[in-house]
Amino acid sequence: MEYNDILSELLIKIEGVQSDRELGELKASVFGKNGIITELMKSLKDLPPEQKPQAGKAVNDLRVAFTAACEEKEKELHRKKIADMIDSESLDLSINKPIGSIGALHPINQIRKKLTDYFIANGYIVYDSPEIETDYYNFQALNIPPDHPARDMQDTFFIGNGMLLRSQTSSGQVRLMEKHKPPLKMICPGRVFRNDDDSTHSPVFHQMEGLVVDKNVTLCDLKGALEGFAKFIFGDKTTIRFRPSYFPFTEPSVEVDVSCFNCGGSGCRVCKNTGWIEILGAGMVNRKVLENCNIDPDEYHGFAFGLGLDRVAMIQYGINDIKLLWENDVRFLKQFR
Ligand code: DAH
Repeated sequence: MEYNDILSELLIKIEGVQSDRELGELKASVFGKNGIITELMKSLKDLPPEQKPQAGKAVNDLRVAFTAACEEKEKELHRKKIADMIDSESLDLSINKPIGSIGALHPINQIRKKLTDYFIANGYIVYDSPEIETDYYNFQALNIPPDHPARDMQDTFFIGNGMLLRSQTSSGQVRLMEKHKPPLKMICPGRVFRNDDDSTHSPVFHQMEGLVVDKNVTLCDLKGALEGFAKFIFGDKTTIRFRPSYFPFTEPSVEVDVSCFNCGGSGCRVCKNTGWIEILGAGMVNRKVLENCNIDPDEYHGFAFGLGLDRVAMIQYGINDIKLLWENDVRFLKQFR
């Protein structure tokens, strides 16, 4: 038989192979003691010398071609084995069984997530800052020295040794700027603590600090940033206004109002008939704060803002008592699924 015919026959056999075992058997029948290729090899020695080189090459070509085809088959069997395994191990989870009640994010966490996502999408990083702070980070570095009257704006829980429960997330500004140099864009969400307790104040509540520091940052940038943010939470028609205010760590400082999302500005219960809702404090980072963090205030400027998350939740959902957010009564929480 011609070598080519032998090869064609072998290739047809390989084609028909269905398992590793069959392939092994085929290989044995070709390379084994009385295998075709073994026999061909053996028969070479009986050929006349002038035919030997050519016949030897042909047998070797046959061996190489067959071996390559076997390897290809092996790979194919392996792929098939994995595909079969994946098929047989797949799990049908579509069983129709009633499920018990599913939890949901707490309304404060929903707001926090929504706002965090917004700021991340606008290039801000999320910075985590400690809840137990030193007087330095919570006050002094923010331009509030000991005995400064501005300390009375926040009734702070001191826990001894110069330590306190942070009364504002503004401490995160200092921690960030000490470690990282501009350009900076960050938000710092978290719990803050003050000795305050009535229907709109809780001793523990949530703030989100924002900070942007770069060359040529202006009050207009602050306004643009906050307007975009206000439209995002309260709707596209929302506008904002700045009112002059005072915070030791910003100069100038502003209080920011949003137009009432409920009445559109004409006056209603939500905005106490003013058409405006106060939502946050903000301003241009005070030179002294930049200096305290070793940032040159002649080269860099920044804006900062601080927002109460509980307040946003209360305004948005019409919650009239902050305690409801802490009691975790399932009947209350269920409404915010
Ligand atoms: N830390 C202030 C507070 O708790 C809020 C605040 C006001 C933060 C102005 C700021 C800011 O970053 O610029 O009352």
